[in-house]
Amino acid sequence: MRGILGQGNGFGKVILFNEHFVVYGIPAIVSAIGAKTTALVERRPGSGVEVKDERPETKGYKAEKLSQQKESLDRMLKFMNIDPEHNAFRITLGGGLIAASGVGASAASCAAIARAFSEELDLKYSDEKINEIAYEGEKGYHGTPSGIDNTAATYGGLIWYKREGISHLMERMRLQKPVEIVMGNTGIVADTRVVVGGVKQRKDKEPDKYARLFENAERLVRGARKQLEEFNLERLGTYMDENHALLQQIGVSCDELDALVDLARESGAIGAKMTGTGKGGYMVALTPGKELQERVAVAIERKGFDALRTTIGG
Ligand code: MEV
Repeated sequence: MRGILGQGNGFGKVILFNEHFVVYGIPAIVSAIGAKTTALVERRPGSGVEVKDERPETKGYKAEKLSQQKESLDRMLKFMNIDPEHNAFRITLGGGLIAASGVGASAASCAAIARAFSEELDLKYSDEKINEIAYEGEKGYHGTPSGIDNTAATYGGLIWYKREGISHLMERMRLQKPVEIVMGNTGIVADTRVVVGGVKQRKDKEPDKYARLFENAERLVRGARKQLEEFNLERLGTYMDENHALLQQIGVSCDELDALVDLARESGAIGAKMTGTGKGGYMVALTPGKELQERVAVAIERKGFDALRTTIGG
C-alpha cells in the first residue's frame, strides 16, 4: 500500500443549448461551471467498495440516486478491470459541486472516481480513457446517455458536442472572457432515464412534429454558436429564450422551471432557460456583470430557491 490517497476531480456543467436534442445527434453547447466534485480512493483490507458521500446535496438527491450510483460504480469497476471481490476500497466524494439534477453531478462524480482510481493504482489513464470510463458510469444513471455530461466533466471549458452513433464530435470553443450566469435550483430531483424516455415516447407518437422541432433546434444551436464566438451576449440571450421554448414543446420543462425562468427574465437576465434533464433540477440565466448576476440571484433567493452564482467560459 502506498499510503497516499488517489484523488481526482470532475467538473460540474451547464448545458447552454440543446439538452435532450443532443441524444438524437443534434449538436449542443455545454460549459463547465466553477464547481467540481472530488473523489479520494483509499485501499483497505478485505473486499468490497464503500462510498462515503460528503457532497452537498439537494435534499433527497443522494437517497434517490443510491441504487443508480451503485450500478454506475459496478460498471466503472468492471470497465477498469478492478475486481471488488479481491480488492477493498473506500471512495470519498466531496468538493463544492452540489449533488443535484441539472449540474452534471453524476458525470462529475464518475470522472472524479475514474481519475482517483487511475492515480491510486498508477494506471496512467489519458483524458480520453477517463471520459470513456465516466461514460460507462453514466449509463448506470441514465441508460443511454449522449455523452455530453461526462465529456464536460472530464475536459471542462466550453464545448460544442455532437453525438455520432457510438462516437462523438467534440470541439473546444473560446469566449472572449468568462461571463456571469445564475443557476436557480427548483429543489426537485429528476430521473434522467424517465425524462429521456418520455421524449422518446412522444417523438414516436408524433414524428412529424418532432422532426420540425429537431430542425429548429439544429438551426438554433448553429446561430447560438455564432453569437458566442462573436461575443454577442444580447443575441445569445434571445437564443437561450428560444431554446427554452423548444424544450417546453418537447415536454421536459415544468411549472417550477418556467416560473424561475420568468423571474430571472423579469429581474433583468438577458436570457434564461431550463438546463439539463428538466422536470426539476436547475435553470440557467445569462447575467453578464457582477451587478446583474447579484440582482437575479437575490430575486431567486427571495422566492425561497437556492441560486448558484458562477461563470461560463472560465
Ligand atoms: C442531461 O444532463 C442531458 C440530457 O440531454 C441527457 C443526455 O444528453 O444524455 C437530458
